[in-house]
Amino acid sequence: MDSLKSRVRAGYSRSWVVHRYSKIGLWPSEQRVCEAFWPHSGRILDIGCGAGRTTIPLVQQGYAVTGTDISVPMVRQGHRLNSTDVQKATWAACDAADLPFSDGVFDGALFSYNGIELVPGLEEKERVLTEVCRVLKSGGKLIFTTHAFEAFNRFAFFRIRQLFRFWCSRILRRSIEEREMGEVVYDPDRNLEVYYMQIVSPRIYRRMLKESGFELEYYNSRQRIDSDRAPAWFVDFDPDFKFYVAGKIQRENAGVPSE
Ligand SMILES: C[S@@+](CC[C@H](N)C(=O)[O-])C[C@H]1O[C@@H](n2cnc3c(N)ncnc32)[C@H](O)[C@@H]1O
Repeated sequence: MDSLKSRVRAGYSRSWVVHRYSKIGLWPSEQRVCEAFWPHSGRILDIGCGAGRTTIPLVQQGYAVTGTDISVPMVRQGHRLNSTDVQKATWAACDAADLPFSDGVFDGALFSYNGIELVPGLEEKERVLTEVCRVLKSGGKLIFTTHAFEAFNRFAFFRIRQLFRFWCSRILRRSIEEREMGEVVYDPDRNLEVYYMQIVSPRIYRRMLKESGFELEYYNSRQRIDSDRAPAWFVDFDPDFKFYVAGKIQRENAGVPSE
């Protein structure tokens, strides 16, 4: 697990990747969702903030923003962005699974641009969600995005193959070659941006959120948000990224296992 995380950190520490992320600006869909679900002021935790693409616009909107990323060069680059608002943000290089903040201090949290898919395995993803829940105030909202699990896009063949292998291994009672369904580990010798990624179904996210103390409040695709459409009523086959908004539930209900 740690070696995968080190790989992710190394991948996002390369200068050309840091350079690629050195742009400021919220997507229109991010703007809409943040406006709809967060209070109009308060403390926001920007997780996996990269070089501050979302951190700076949120500062400019009047939030007190803490930008955090596992990659030190990303956070350093955030400091160097050409904006007078850089100094107004607080920056910290840290792992989302181990946040150096007290309980219940943030009004909202953002893990943008599918960053959660870079966290290795389901267990570690759940650890991240639990940690984010801890630092949010009661009722605080976590917003994050993922690739589209159900879409018939370029990843569909890969996912069907993984599913087939997974069930074959189970039926034959062999050890499962892939540790968890949907994990892609790229060869670090290939000069790709992403060294590791895991695309997870909305059903699994819903369960992990519940077990971490959240309730899923909203799920929609970027395309539908951009065109002002409500979430799909059944399965959303839209290939664009998915937005999740999860609210921290009251302490007495948090962590109650689902039946
Ligand atoms: C796809 S980039 C997005 C960066 C930024 N949010 C943006 O939209 O420009 C994902 C970021 O998540 C960070 N990341 C990956 N795993 C992380 C973890 N466990 N904790 C904190 N950050 C992480 C990476 O270093 C990378 O900067």
